[in-house]
Amino acid sequence: MVVPVSDAAAVRTAGREHADRGLAPCRPLLKWPGGKRSELPLIAPRIPEHSRYFEPFFGGGSVYFDAIDSESYANDLHPDLMEFYRCVKHGDERFFQHLYSIVDDWERASLVGRDAIYYDCRDRYNASPPTTAQRAADFFLLRELAYGGMFRVNANGHFNVPFGQAYAKNKNLREKVDLLRSDAVVAKMERLNLSALDFADFLDGFEFRPEDFMFVDPPYDSSFSKYDTLDFSEQDQRRLAKALMQFTGRFMLVCKATPLIEDLYHGAEHLRVHHYEHQYKFNIKGRFSRSSTHAMITNYEAAIVAGEAS
Ligand SMILES: C[S@@+](CC[C@H](N)C(=O)[O-])C[C@H]1O[C@@H](n2cnc3c(N)ncnc32)[C@H](O)[C@@H]1O
Repeated sequence: MVVPVSDAAAVRTAGREHADRGLAPCRPLLKWPGGKRSELPLIAPRIPEHSRYFEPFFGGGSVYFDAIDSESYANDLHPDLMEFYRCVKHGDERFFQHLYSIVDDWERASLVGRDAIYYDCRDRYNASPPTTAQRAADFFLLRELAYGGMFRVNANGHFNVPFGQAYAKNKNLREKVDLLRSDAVVAKMERLNLSALDFADFLDGFEFRPEDFMFVDPPYDSSFSKYDTLDFSEQDQRRLAKALMQFTGRFMLVCKATPLIEDLYHGAEHLRVHHYEHQYKFNIKGRFSRSSTHAMITNYEAAIVAGEAS
């Protein structure tokens, strides 16, 4: 059965529900392709009670930031992303000093001068060595200000997305940076343990128990699956399916329902597979259909009822 999901109203509902449960939900700290914010109303109510929370493909962490309040382990292979979270978690001084100096320049510049700040930031990012606090700060600003929030690198691995212009130049960057130091974010980051590994190495690091819960949101099995320079191939989807078949805690996998995904998970007796229709907000140059069928695969009962989230 395919259940339709409508986007924006549903997100508002999810936030309210979690506030009612006494948690302090917050939004993801940066823009991230493939974020699951619009699917929270389907995902969050199906997260079982658990003692520890794991997320091997953390990205923007929309589920964690909205709905999780337990001891948590976040992993993503993207080194800049995880260095950004490390800097936020530890209130890294060089990271915040660099951000606020750019915020000062941004506020002094006229609207037409702001693209120069973006291009300086992009040049610095492309010239910098990996995992420095300054690079993490520039990475955050590029995520905020790049056209369409896109990732794209050229043949030399240099980030080459242009300035977001109309969309970016009116941004209140100070508000965005202040938010990274807000009480809600500090509290969330305190509970989060971070790593930047391939998912299989991350999983190898734990003895999983039945009361553990893992939310699994891998890159899609499609042309959408490239994150910056990270490819996620059919072979990677197969490695993941193998790891999940043996997983001893509870897990929820959310992904686009392609023939490969159906083939990998179909027929496993201990799994439940549900389908729902997802509407994308963006459709860059007609490359993706605006609507597609997603699968939610769990190793515990998590039925989706027709019409519940529409
Ligand atoms: C669909 S996104 C996750 C989105 C996230 N759930 C959110 O709400 O923002 C998939 C993530 O997997 C990461 N990734 C790609 N290959 C990986 C690998 N082999 N191991 C771990 N993470 C990987 C990407 O960097 C990307 O952040």
